[in-house]
Amino acid sequence: MDLNQLQERLSALRSETVDALAGVASMDELRRLESQTTGKSGTLGAWMGTIKEYPPDQRGEVGKALNQAKGELTKLFKEAGERIKAGAAAAEASKASSYDPTLPGVRPPVGSFHPVTLVQLEVEDVFRRLGFLIETGPEMESEYYNFEALNIPKLHPARDMQDTFWLTNGKLLRTHTSPVQVRAMERHGPPLRVLAPGRCFRYETIDASHENTFHQVEGLMIDRHISIANLIAMMKLLLREVFGRDLKVRLRPGYFPFVEPGFELDMSCLICDGGGCATCKQSGWIEILPCGMVHPNVLRAGKIDPHEYTGFAFGLGLTRLAMMKYGVADIRGLNSGDLRALVPATRTGGPTLLTC
Ligand code: DAH
Repeated sequence: MDLNQLQERLSALRSETVDALAGVASMDELRRLESQTTGKSGTLGAWMGTIKEYPPDQRGEVGKALNQAKGELTKLFKEAGERIKAGAAAAEASKASSYDPTLPGVRPPVGSFHPVTLVQLEVEDVFRRLGFLIETGPEMESEYYNFEALNIPKLHPARDMQDTFWLTNGKLLRTHTSPVQVRAMERHGPPLRVLAPGRCFRYETIDASHENTFHQVEGLMIDRHISIANLIAMMKLLLREVFGRDLKVRLRPGYFPFVEPGFELDMSCLICDGGGCATCKQSGWIEILPCGMVHPNVLRAGKIDPHEYTGFAFGLGLTRLAMMKYGVADIRGLNSGDLRALVPATRTGGPTLLTC
């Protein structure tokens, strides 16, 4: 290219650069463009390397033209850099000035009640209204209260129904909330209405429906002339309050050493309304509440005369109830502390997220 052509190219490069700079918004983009234009291997850099190819008498002119173009382009890049920096600073300043410290802050959600706590509170609420005391007992329990006082003597085969965690101090982790029955009888005497929610432990192999740690709530009502009719009425009331509608129930005989007669109370399946589905194993019924009339030996252990008083007791699996109510398919999710398992469950049931 001769000197004239070079000069035309230089002026084209200048106007192309002006156009390109108008669209550049960041310093990174600017540096990239600068290196493609005036950098050593950029367009202008390459032309600089061709000076020696011109006849000696033209080299002075060529050098001058190239240097002048380089000066102009460098100035353009410098100005564009300043413009970009000033724009960024102004954006920051306007961001800062749009902050209004008088607006109320956004409250971060800090959590919600655990599904088991939610059903526990609901059940407590129902029974508190019926005059029941809410009692607690120790999780580390004695063999006497967990078994003997409940009419399960040593070597009784019923001990095998509940695989027990024995502790080195001779005590055990309670396998059910039933021990609170006798403790409450001793503490308060008859007549008595007690509800005892709490954690229980069993040496179980864990799977989707078995956990070694779970929640139950024990109910006990003792008075003169308490009958099975009272038991059924109370259980129907409990299920109506918890599930928000009347459910059909049925009693089947069930064996528990601390009640006589003992029952398994089933409720009509919520999923299929009794028609039969996979959840109820096509039976239309869900086993929900073991219960019965308190065994005379248990009343005696609680220093209550079985000729004067009778009573009923029930043990409700709170963990199971929470799973049914909130549609938690795998029991392991409940003890995992994994919010992906817990929060969606409680959201569908409508409890409020607590905020600080
Ligand atoms: N304690 C029993 C269990 O965990 C449940 C139970 C059955 C409790 C019958 C009761 C009852 O009060 O009457 O398997």
